[in-house]
Amino acid sequence: MKGIILAGGAGSRLYPLSLVASKQLQPVYDKPMVYYPLTTLIESGVREFCLISTPQDLPRFRQLFGDGSAWGLSIEYREQPRPDGIAQAFLIAESFIGRDPVALILGDNIFSGADVFPGVFADFKSGATIFGYRVNDPERYGVVEFDASGKAISIEEKPRQPRSSHAVPGLYLYDNEVVAIARALKPSARGELEITDVNVEYLRRGALRVCRLSRGFAWLDAGTSSSLHDASAYVQTVERRTGVKIGCPEEAAFRRGFLSLAAFEELIGRLPKCEYRDYLTAVAGEARRPA
Ligand code: TTP
Repeated sequence: MKGIILAGGAGSRLYPLSLVASKQLQPVYDKPMVYYPLTTLIESGVREFCLISTPQDLPRFRQLFGDGSAWGLSIEYREQPRPDGIAQAFLIAESFIGRDPVALILGDNIFSGADVFPGVFADFKSGATIFGYRVNDPERYGVVEFDASGKAISIEEKPRQPRSSHAVPGLYLYDNEVVAIARALKPSARGELEITDVNVEYLRRGALRVCRLSRGFAWLDAGTSSSLHDASAYVQTVERRTGVKIGCPEEAAFRRGFLSLAAFEELIGRLPKCEYRDYLTAVAGEARRPA
């Protein structure tokens, strides 16, 4: 499974913060926002990435991650000149996707909690798998409606009158058909290639699976000043309480076996003295200790 991180967009709701840095590079408590979705995909077993952002912001992401090899990953970069829609990612990344299935994650989506994704990724065979998460304000998102047996029966983008409280978070798994589906899309009334239209097409084909995320799960989107602040507060609360970091790609790559203990320790040795380094040192120390 290949992974696309979509980190472009205008970030207009974060103005004037987004004047100084792209939305996905803003801090969420102790790390850049994009660390969180990257970690979610690493934890799910994805090792090959394509990061898509604006021509202005792409150099900063390159600076941050390089080619990914320091973390046992491979990361390619592609430009999206204008925010012409989330589904455009499959056209921009077509040569990266090749013949493989692909997971797309939005660069401002933060997931934390129950460990559902690795299993869902491992079980993925064909069609599309998306998620449903109960929220207070479904009208801001794609909304999925279920029948009495729990089967998805409709998906609508930002409906005025939502048919359910289940929003579709920004993490989507597709088989290779997604490229052809994206190619056939027409821009919506707001001029975007809509990810909801991709999902509706899979639903029409009877190939859409919607996995409901449980109540204990946290899905945060950090697109406004308030939700950015909430996300920081959430991460701080959980990290302080548990002593475990959310959204730590180095740790995830190590735990997933993408980095040997020696390579992990070498990487830690190159970090400046800081709390993040202390944390990774403790993770490596625990791994060294005999069980
Ligand atoms: P949005 O939050 O819907 O859009 P935005 O980031 O442009 O923000 P604003 O509405 O404040 O102007 O996008 C969700 C995510 O998808 C976000 O991480 C940006 C990304 N995105 C792209 O990279 N390209 C696109 O064409 C679109 C529509 C979104």
